[in-house]
Amino acid sequence: MFFASDNGAGASPKVIRAVADAFQSGPAIAYGDDDLTRAVERRFCELFEREVAVFLLASGTATNALALAHVTPPWGAIYAHEVSHAHATECGATEFYVGAKFVPVAGPGGKVTPEALAAKVRRANRGNPHSVQPATVTITNLTECGTLYRAEEIAALSEICRREGMRLHLDGARFANAVAATGASPAEMTWRAGVDVMSFGATKNGAITAEAVVFFDPALADGFIYRRMRGGHLLSKMRFVSAQFEAWLEAEHWLDLARHSNAMAARLASGLQGLGYRLAWPAEGNEVFPILPAAVAQALRARGLRFHGGNPDALAEPLRPGETIARLIPSFATTPEEVDELLALLTEIGRPAQAAE
Ligand SMILES: Cc1ncc(COP(=O)(O)O)c(C=O)c1O
Repeated sequence: MFFASDNGAGASPKVIRAVADAFQSGPAIAYGDDDLTRAVERRFCELFEREVAVFLLASGTATNALALAHVTPPWGAIYAHEVSHAHATECGATEFYVGAKFVPVAGPGGKVTPEALAAKVRRANRGNPHSVQPATVTITNLTECGTLYRAEEIAALSEICRREGMRLHLDGARFANAVAATGASPAEMTWRAGVDVMSFGATKNGAITAEAVVFFDPALADGFIYRRMRGGHLLSKMRFVSAQFEAWLEAEHWLDLARHSNAMAARLASGLQGLGYRLAWPAEGNEVFPILPAAVAQALRARGLRFHGGNPDALAEPLRPGETIARLIPSFATTPEEVDELLALLTEIGRPAQAAE
C-alpha cells in the first residue's frame, strides 16, 4: 500500500499518450520554440481568463526558486510559512538563485495569517541597511499540512502585500487540489485575489514531470527567459513538457484527477475518524495527517504501508507523549479499495487506546 506521496504515482494514461504522440509527430525546433509550446501558452491564457506569461520547467523546486528570485531583490525578505516547502525543504534553492532571506512565519495548519504576516512586517526595520527589506510573500495552496486558502483569505494577504509594496507568490504544487476542493475558478484563486506570480504544478497530479511559472502581469516576466536559461532550466526538449500540459489541461482532465485524489482523501479521513483517530489538521484536499500512537505507525510500516511523517511544528497543540503524525497522500491513481484496505489494516492492528498500551 502506497500513501507516501502523490508524486510516487505514475502518470495519467492520457498524459502518457500525449507524450507518445508528440514523439510520433517528428522533429521540432528545440528549447520551446515549437507549436505545442505555443498552444500551451494560449491554453494557460484561456484557463486564467487573461493574458499571462508562462514558462515551463521540470521541477517544482526550480519553479519556486526562479519565480521567487525574479520578484525579490538580493536584500529582500521573503515571508513564508515556517513549514513551507520553499523555505524548509528546498535546500536553500531560492537563496542560491537570489541571495535573499526567508523570514519564517508561524501559524496552525501551515497557513500564513494576515495577523502573523502583518506583525512580522511591522518588525522589519525598514530603511535600515542592517536588515533585509520586505519584498515578497509566498504561500502554498494546498498547504504542506493539507489545508487550503480560500480566495478571500488570499485576498486578505494580498492586501497587506499591496500596502507594504510586496509581491505575492503562490506555490501551486497542488493547486489543482485546491481548485477542485473550493470549486472556485483558477482566476479567482490567483490574480483576482492578488497573486502576482505562481508555480503551477502538474507532476503530483498525473503528469510525468511538468511545472510552470505563471506571471499574471506579463510585464513582470520581463527578463525571466534569461533567468530560466541562466539557471539551467531551459529544456531543449520542452515540447514533451508542453505535450503533458496540453493533455492535462484539456477538458478539465487536471481537475478530474484532483477531484479523485481529494475524494480518496475524504474517504480516508472519515474512515480514520470513524476508527477513533484524530487528524492533525482538516483534510481539505488530498493530504491526510492522522495522529497515531507510535506503536500503530510502526505496525503499519511493518505490514508494508509506505508513508512519511508529518511536521509537528504547525500543530496548534503539541503531540501527547508517544504520539506521531502520519502523512498519508492519496493520488489520482489511488483506488477506494486501497483506502479501505488501509482502514481494515488499522482495524486489525487495534484501536488507538489498545495500541498505545
Ligand atoms: C508544496 C510543494 N512545493 C514544491 C515542491 C517541489 O517539487 P519538486 O519535488 O518537483 O522539486 C513540493 C514537492 O514535494 C511540494 O510539496
